[in-house]
Amino acid sequence: MKALFDVLAPEEPDFALASAIDPDRLPAHIAIIMDGNGRWAKRRNLPRVAGHKAGIDPVRITVETCARLGLRALTLYAFSVENWKRPRGEVDMLWRLLRLYLRAELPDMSRNDIRFNAIGRIEALPDFVRGELEETVRATAANRGLELNLAINYGGRAELVDAVKALIEDSRRRDIVIDEEAIASRLYTAGTPDPDLLIRTSGEMRVSNFLLWQIAYSELYVTDTLWPDFSRTDLLRAILDYQKRHRRFGGWGDAAPIESDVALLEVIPTR
Ligand code: FPP
Repeated sequence: MKALFDVLAPEEPDFALASAIDPDRLPAHIAIIMDGNGRWAKRRNLPRVAGHKAGIDPVRITVETCARLGLRALTLYAFSVENWKRPRGEVDMLWRLLRLYLRAELPDMSRNDIRFNAIGRIEALPDFVRGELEETVRATAANRGLELNLAINYGGRAELVDAVKALIEDSRRRDIVIDEEAIASRLYTAGTPDPDLLIRTSGEMRVSNFLLWQIAYSELYVTDTLWPDFSRTDLLRAILDYQKRHRRFGGWGDAAPIESDVALLEVIPTR
């Protein structure tokens, strides 16, 4: 986290927020559903694509902040398998923005030791987008800092279908045990810890087919802020909120055990 303080002046409000974060309890992996670009543009009487363009800066800020915090992974939902239903012009513009972003950010990714990865059905993307993605993956492959996963043409159900297909394929060649590990190791995110924190912007209370397997025990944080307005302050607030949560993973966590469960059962009225 020290690297974050290198860019924060003590009089900035983010300095106080960052100081309140416990460096020993940072989420290892944050996933974000970046939503609200269209509404941001509509409120300004601008075309939707202006909202997407304005969504690039928060991507930069979020990536840089997560890298400076020393997080292990950040996964951003940029384009879902369902997003092909949007008008052709909007989809084409998204591809152009993505190429611009990747070209402009590669030097910063290298400087900040960020390893870029694209998750989703990448093979179905237009050649020029796929080429740019592959080039960025290749150029950052040796980096060992933040793992930045961009989910593009991604669907949680599609990912599970692909994992099951791979499992069946492998089982034809050798005996395999079918357990949770067998599925998890065939997901696009194999090798990355599940997200500790899932953030969604623009107030919608949905998971929208994002990382369905991986978010089983993620803490959810929904903010009304529209993605183009999402700032470093919003990210730090989300992390602070996460640190207040009591994660139990279906068990008791560190809750004090009840002294006498049997005695308690006797005093609970039964019908
Ligand atoms: C959701 O807002 C956003 C998207 C489908 C695209 C995400 C794209 C960006 C954040 C910009 C570019 C990103 C990169 C990585 C270069 P929406 O259009 O569904 O908004 P609405 O719900 O208000 O209509």
